[in-house]
Amino acid sequence: MTTSLWPSFLPPSAHGDDARCMVGARGVRLRFADGSSALCGTSGLWNANLGYGNKAIAKAVASAMDDASYLGTFRWENAPIREAADRLCAVAGGDWFTRVLFSTSGGAANDLVMKLARQHHALRGQAQRQLVVGLRGGYHGLTFGAFALTSDEMGQQQYGVDRRLVRHVEPNDIGQLQRLLERFGHQVAAVVVEPVLGTGAVELTPEWVAELVRQRDQHGFLLVADEVATGFGRVGDFFASQAWPGEPDLLVTSKALTNGTCAAAAVLVASHVWETFREQDAVLGHAETQAGTAVTGAAINAMLDEMAKHDAVMAGRLVSERLDHHLAQLMSDEESVVSFRGRGCFRAVAMVDCDGVPLTGDGVSELVTQVRRAGAVVHPGPSGFQLVPALLYTEAETEELFDRVRDGIARARRAVRAVA
Ligand SMILES: Cc1ncc(COP(=O)(O)O)c(C=O)c1O
Repeated sequence: MTTSLWPSFLPPSAHGDDARCMVGARGVRLRFADGSSALCGTSGLWNANLGYGNKAIAKAVASAMDDASYLGTFRWENAPIREAADRLCAVAGGDWFTRVLFSTSGGAANDLVMKLARQHHALRGQAQRQLVVGLRGGYHGLTFGAFALTSDEMGQQQYGVDRRLVRHVEPNDIGQLQRLLERFGHQVAAVVVEPVLGTGAVELTPEWVAELVRQRDQHGFLLVADEVATGFGRVGDFFASQAWPGEPDLLVTSKALTNGTCAAAAVLVASHVWETFREQDAVLGHAETQAGTAVTGAAINAMLDEMAKHDAVMAGRLVSERLDHHLAQLMSDEESVVSFRGRGCFRAVAMVDCDGVPLTGDGVSELVTQVRRAGAVVHPGPSGFQLVPALLYTEAETEELFDRVRDGIARARRAVRAVA
């Protein structure tokens, strides 16, 4: 179909496909413009943790639209977002976080974090602390600051992304972290890590995280947990960093923050960081017109109510147990499935082709397409696919998801044979 839409991350040859054009969604099911429907195994883009069409969130957003259609946070405050800020600090646990800054996307929030960390140190007389360290394989968004921190080669050079103040280390390599910080520790403003790397669902080991926390305490950089994907029960705790041996100084959230209903992100700020700004009455040079609106605040408050009502963290743990069982079964039944990684409702499955070679680009695309034809949406992974189901998936839905994945794997195998 001819359309003026330029969708992200799709080659022009794939534009205008009705099988990719969604017209509606409810629960964990998507409806498409070609009349088909599919079980969603990705919670949207990992953001509809409670499933689609949550009535309470819809009602709260509609009511705020009526009564507070645009009330922002750029030189102003509004009541719903004040409430959301207080509640986010409370659910993150105790009095460690005492301020919340709002943004409109994970990428923009990571930009904000880089500015905040550098200004924090400058206010403390350490303006030389400008470096920001991320992880190889880490993803933090595609705005210019976050793009520099995102490690995968995605065209940074061609787009003129300035990476001079960014360094990357291998996840879980303690020696590499120590060596970098021994040399540059006094210049590092922040180390930003995803507790579970979204690309490939790579978990950080407890030993590596403990060392990172120790290095933070020794060198004084800000430790940032990018929980854009892992927050709100996605990997077994309310926030994944709650299981760390030390709290992060900044915690970045987005995606499930409004259950995917608004363009929203929130950065939780530890009290000692906030104190640096408060003591000097310093203004942070970051603001966005649409950040922290009353509508967003209403969505966040309703999302938190719904998480509590459905005991979503516990529900997600139950789904996680089912995933463990089904993934083990899939691996024992399917020769092409060689391993799986991740935890909670955030999993990656690694596969090989008929020659035993790990799947890459075209093989992964073919697989995801065939699973879609079999009636489910799964996320492409580095050498296979990723499953990021809603925390409220039922046992029947989990079984159906795996049936469709199996069917998709069989279809992909037949398609490859037909070409050979
Ligand atoms: C950990 C993490 N950080 C940042 C981002 C970027 O978020 P956005 O696409 O909202 O800019 C993502 C998106 O997937 C993410 O997973």
